[in-house]
Amino acid sequence: MTENKRQKIVVIGTGYVGLPAALLLARAGHEVVGVDINENIVHAINEGVLHIREEQLQAIMNEPAVRVNLKAQSSPCEADVFLIAVPTPLDHRKKVAEMKYVIDATESLLPHLRSGNLVILESTVPPLTCREVMTPILERTGLKVGLDIYLAHCPERILPGDVFYEIVHNDRIIGGADPEARRRAKAVYASFVEGNLYETDDVTAELCKLMENTYRDVNIALANEFAAVAERLGIDAQVAIGLANKHPRVNILSPGIGVGGHCIPIDPWFIKEVDPANSRLIFTSRLINDEMPGRVASKIRRAVRAIPAPKIVAIGAAYKANTEDVRESPAIEIVRLLREDGCSVDHYDPLVAGYQYPSLTEICAGADCLAILVAHEVATKDLDANRGEIERAMRHPIILRFGD
Ligand SMILES: NC(=O)c1ccc[n+]([C@@H]2O[C@H](COP(=O)([O-])OP(=O)(O)OC[C@H]3O[C@@H](n4cnc5c(N)ncnc54)[C@H](O)[C@@H]3O)[C@@H](O)[C@H]2O)c1
Repeated sequence: MTENKRQKIVVIGTGYVGLPAALLLARAGHEVVGVDINENIVHAINEGVLHIREEQLQAIMNEPAVRVNLKAQSSPCEADVFLIAVPTPLDHRKKVAEMKYVIDATESLLPHLRSGNLVILESTVPPLTCREVMTPILERTGLKVGLDIYLAHCPERILPGDVFYEIVHNDRIIGGADPEARRRAKAVYASFVEGNLYETDDVTAELCKLMENTYRDVNIALANEFAAVAERLGIDAQVAIGLANKHPRVNILSPGIGVGGHCIPIDPWFIKEVDPANSRLIFTSRLINDEMPGRVASKIRRAVRAIPAPKIVAIGAAYKANTEDVRESPAIEIVRLLREDGCSVDHYDPLVAGYQYPSLTEICAGADCLAILVAHEVATKDLDANRGEIERAMRHPIILRFGD
């Protein structure tokens, strides 16, 4: 990198999204300051230790140039570019975005803001956040957005577990209200992204990110609805969906036990928040998917209703197969509902710390029902290979498989 392209970049919020960006920017030759209110994270970064589980990123952290270019501290300082990647969780009661972190982070950079600065928001937010939430805060300094300082929304699309590949190779949306914001933000990402960089305005970028996850949510809801209809008709939903997908322009997703993770069950609410009248399908889909744990819990209860004081073994706590991530996990909700109803449930997951077990045969000894809630490969292989033995170990050999 030539010296005139080297910029000082302050990354506010160095979690799953901010830290990989900080590492890649440091590797590209920028002077990067990671800022986090969590002192443990600040300490870990300065020690060269990655606090997120991403092997390839640890290797980048270990590169000498990165160690020189990346420092961490607990509050912002002057810079050319400020990149904000703080959480935007859902307020679960009101079903709206919790904007406190974005507001705090924006306010925290005000004392350091000067003419010519670029502020990039990477957090997933309801549309109009840049214009209606961030711009008024930034303009408290007397600097005008679009004239003195520049604001862009560049949402992140990374899949945890493969962050290094995705942050470099995914195409990205560069959203800025004015051409100068877009030009400057694009230059920042061009220093480490190999995917295409698509320029647009900030509101389009905000909605675009939400549309991506809402598309998945609505299509999963449709698959869940098809599965319910198939069950009512007494036919196998998977077979029907498999055959329907033989149509050249049809691709029905898989039905399941509900939708989890930190994006898909949350982001659709941010669209409804700004335009409820036009979000009826989105809202209904959210309700359909949120009802799934209750439906699955009823199915399990029905399967054991003739057995006095049944003992249920549930496998799967993660929000999807073959991951250890339990955020917004429908499987955990199913077990909670069953226990709330007085059922005795032993809950295990081969991949999640605190939920691990020796073998299905051992934990199913004396059980009345084995419910596979999350089809982790290691669990389904164990079941397929040892089904006879598992059934013999159980008091009643009731085996229910969900999420295959
Ligand atoms: N994790 C993902 O895969 C992913 C993917 C796409 C988009 N997103 C979005 O990116 C944003 C960040 O998500 P994440 O997963 O990185 O969250 P995270 O919780 O892993 O990291 C956020 C960090 O911000 C810090 N923080 C909070 N307030 C702060 C402040 N005022 N100043 C400095 N630091 C502050 C927290 O201590 C934390 O370390 C969210 O809006 C999320 O929806 C996440």
